[in-house]
Amino acid sequence: MSSNTPPAANTTTSIADERILVLDFGSQYAQLIARRVREQNVYCEIVRHDISAERIMEHAPRGLILSGGPSSVYADGAPRCDPALFQLDLPILGICYGMQLACDALGGQVESVAAREYGRTRCTVTADDPLFAGIPPESDVWMSHGDQVARVAEGFVPLAQTNTCPIAAVRHQSRPVFGLQFHPEVTHTPYGKQVLRNFLMSICGCHGTWKLGDFAREAIETVRARVGNGRVICGLSGGVDSAVTAALLYQAIGSQLSCILVDNGLLRLNEADAIIREFTDHFKTDLHVVRGEDHFLKVLDGIDEPQEKRRRIGHAFIDCFRAEAERIEGVQFLAQGTLYPDVIESGAAPDGPAATIKTHHNVGGLPEQLGFELIEPLRDLFKDEVRRLGTTLGLPDEIVWRHPFPGPGLAVRCLGSLSREKLDTLRHADEIVVSEIKQAGLYQKTAQAFAVLLPVQSVGVMGDARTYENAVVIRCVDSDDFMTADWSRLPYDLLARMSTRIINEVKGVNRVAYDISSKPPATIEWE
Ligand code: XMP
Repeated sequence: MSSNTPPAANTTTSIADERILVLDFGSQYAQLIARRVREQNVYCEIVRHDISAERIMEHAPRGLILSGGPSSVYADGAPRCDPALFQLDLPILGICYGMQLACDALGGQVESVAAREYGRTRCTVTADDPLFAGIPPESDVWMSHGDQVARVAEGFVPLAQTNTCPIAAVRHQSRPVFGLQFHPEVTHTPYGKQVLRNFLMSICGCHGTWKLGDFAREAIETVRARVGNGRVICGLSGGVDSAVTAALLYQAIGSQLSCILVDNGLLRLNEADAIIREFTDHFKTDLHVVRGEDHFLKVLDGIDEPQEKRRRIGHAFIDCFRAEAERIEGVQFLAQGTLYPDVIESGAAPDGPAATIKTHHNVGGLPEQLGFELIEPLRDLFKDEVRRLGTTLGLPDEIVWRHPFPGPGLAVRCLGSLSREKLDTLRHADEIVVSEIKQAGLYQKTAQAFAVLLPVQSVGVMGDARTYENAVVIRCVDSDDFMTADWSRLPYDLLARMSTRIINEVKGVNRVAYDISSKPPATIEWE
């Protein structure tokens, strides 16, 4: 066994013939831009804003997109890019801060506007240009800026304007440099997709040849070549990422794959059985199920502090996983379902932005001390691509479209100290919430839906008797990236059905509430 953990994919390998790089200036939308580009079947990666022009050329991109960012271009320490980028003769699209930076670098002037412009506004195209081909003369765009370009240098032509922003889009006459003050990547800019498409296809000369099927074939080949005759273990959690990882590995190396499912007693109703069925009947993997419920309940006994719960669950998981892995002979590799956002946010991508604002719960996974070489076949993919890949690999919708479920499972939804009874109560209420949401056809439209059991009792009346029982909270949110979320506006009838069923069918619950807090300031989970 080796403690080497080389990245599974190098950014400069031939993962795609056509690639676009997004230079990240700290925008909350950098990943969204990359996803939008990939939706046009053009491979896209996010790189740090100060990457050198020389290094950029090693990636052989067809074009660059400079993201937005929270700074002002004239502020002390404002992130800049290598000025040599503008001499590369490579198509560049600056968005918001990216546009201001490009205009400033080429001699224009940026200024602060009195009122920060935020939200939807009408935009008028003022010049004929391939960037705006197929876009009506007037359309809505989404703005979010405090500064804007006040004057462009000679050689630039304004392409669009809004009421308050006289230069809402711009291009250079002799260099392939473009700028948009508005955000084409958000859905509030209805023609944003077309603007991006124009940039990719007409200006960068891409053809949209990046396909997930090709990715799967290549990933399978890469895994085969790397693993040789070796043995790989893969932890299954019931989540999409680990299931797709295992399915891909199974197609690549078949019986050389062993999967480990740690049933920690904190899973949803029938979840362990569904995973076992899928990975023994459908994919005939060598599946090892660790029945860990008693062990987990023991280490969690009397613990009510959320961080301590997580810590103990993490350790117990590793103990169970390690013990089972040691029973499997000749293991050299550990496969993990790390995704591109995890790689980006942990600062682990070779040219990616440094780890900054966000810490994500899933980063890290199993510790390196386990001593296996890591295989992370999904580390170049976004979640929606992983789902599509799962379908391509033959996984059922039930797994592919499953809502995310936290590693510590129901423990962080059963507030306070845990017991088997409380967990069973929560499991039952949770099953009602999820099945009713599915029944209403809203499962794929919502990001996460679940029940939370509060350690609070309240008075009720059932039949003629007074009750003093627990309260359950229904949590259902809409979210693109789980960094922000809003509570789902579920129909009253649906809420009523869930409430009635929970109170009637779940023993020990006499009150149901609906959580109407958004994130931030609340979080999605309660602990
Ligand atoms: P919060 O509660 O921070 O959750 O808004 C954001 C997303 O992360 C999931 N989550 C976790 N996932 N281990 C995980 O694997 C964890 O400890 C954990 N805590 C939260 C949560 O379900 C949501 O999707």
